[in-house]
Amino acid sequence: MGHDTHGLNLQREVGIIGAISFIGGTMIGSGIFISPQYVLSTIGSPGASFIIWSCCGLIAMLGGLCYAELGTIIPESGAEYIYILRTAGKVVAFMFVFSFIMVMRPASGTGIALSFAEYAVAPFYSGCPPPQLAVKCFAAFSILVAAMTNILNVRLALRVQVIFLVAKVFSLTFIVIGGLVKVLQGSTVIEENFDVENAFQGTQFSLNTLGKALLQGLWSYGGWSNLNYVTEELNRPEVNLPRAVLIAISLVTTLYLLVNVSYLTVMTPKELMSSSAVAVTWGNKVLGSWGWVMSVAAALSAFGSLNGTFFSGGRVCFVAAREGHMPDILSMAHVHRLTPSPALIFTTIISLVVLIPGDFQSIVNYFSFTAWFFYAIVLSGLIYLKIKKPDLPRPYKVPIVIPILVLAAAIFLVLAPIIDNPQIEYLYVALFILSGVIVYIPFIHYKLCPGMLDKLTVFLQLFLEVAPADKNL
Ligand code: ARG
Repeated sequence: MGHDTHGLNLQREVGIIGAISFIGGTMIGSGIFISPQYVLSTIGSPGASFIIWSCCGLIAMLGGLCYAELGTIIPESGAEYIYILRTAGKVVAFMFVFSFIMVMRPASGTGIALSFAEYAVAPFYSGCPPPQLAVKCFAAFSILVAAMTNILNVRLALRVQVIFLVAKVFSLTFIVIGGLVKVLQGSTVIEENFDVENAFQGTQFSLNTLGKALLQGLWSYGGWSNLNYVTEELNRPEVNLPRAVLIAISLVTTLYLLVNVSYLTVMTPKELMSSSAVAVTWGNKVLGSWGWVMSVAAALSAFGSLNGTFFSGGRVCFVAAREGHMPDILSMAHVHRLTPSPALIFTTIISLVVLIPGDFQSIVNYFSFTAWFFYAIVLSGLIYLKIKKPDLPRPYKVPIVIPILVLAAAIFLVLAPIIDNPQIEYLYVALFILSGVIVYIPFIHYKLCPGMLDKLTVFLQLFLEVAPADKNL
């Protein structure tokens, strides 16, 4: 409101443990319990699928290191949005935030919520696929709970993140050990799956399958850039950001690789490919009547990731509104709780709308396509800064080949699925990204219709008890 010129500050409440959980806890979500069968059926053989999972881990790690450098050069929250704004300029940054808020964040939230729901209802419908309505209701419920947690209290959301990360690491380790026990008991499946001759049999090698399999795998690693959304809330970002990236991404990669091996110690590739919920099939084989435990673990894991996705999603709205790219109300924080509640409420509404028509597989595809398109722009920005502004203070630096490699991977990931098998949907997504410019010109550049918005802003401010928040630099 007008009288409050100093505004509020979001606090620097995130330490190293919070930071690691923030990255790791968002990365480990739905993917590792759902994607292995998609990766395997797309690429065709266990050996190639293992290579795909390793490459995805490598891409996430290299990408994370590039973001660590960016986060220390540009210490503002908002990740891609703020990096694009500071390198490529306002129009592209607006295109990003437009796609982020309308497609990417709701899509990732909804994708995770849907797989949460699949696993949460699975024990009630053993032996038959659950009705779509039940799945969607559960998904909506999880979105509302994650949103409430984030609206109520930053510390609560962080604590949820830490507790859930511990639980997830525990369940994945459990899967790894379960697989190991099977090997010791003399499971022969593993020898067949990883025998040099069999391992690569049936590999489907084409640009399209490679691109698709990588994108599927990368969904499971999605979240590696999550800490950069909240740089302003992180203690000593110049130290904690690179450290958290290194620790969290190596932990997740190691677990994912071992879990994939464990799946293949108890299932043949055929069994794996035909399973709709791989962790449940694994649970039924290894734990017998206790198989449902795996459904619970997978559902909880997805919920933790949803919480982290909301935490960071709200921050982008908030930073963009602060820069005048979103209505003012979205940049405000609750006067006592200091959470960016209007931005969170907005994200929740859009996620619920996307949930109505959305299905997991297409959500993941369009989300990843859009996300990698913007990663490519961010990485070009980093390369530009490295060449043109070598003297900027850089508490953390990566060699220039790293962003070049990740940029090449990003370009490949955007183009491969299109070149080999062009589908009209990708054109729609591209047009949608570009349509950001059409919104930008009248509403942001010429600031049309401010009068009505002002009244609405004051009303919502009083109703939600929020006030403008300052930068935390
Ligand atoms: N890696 C997460 C999963 O496996 C998806 C994370 C999506 N969120 C994101 N911020 N990219 O469910």
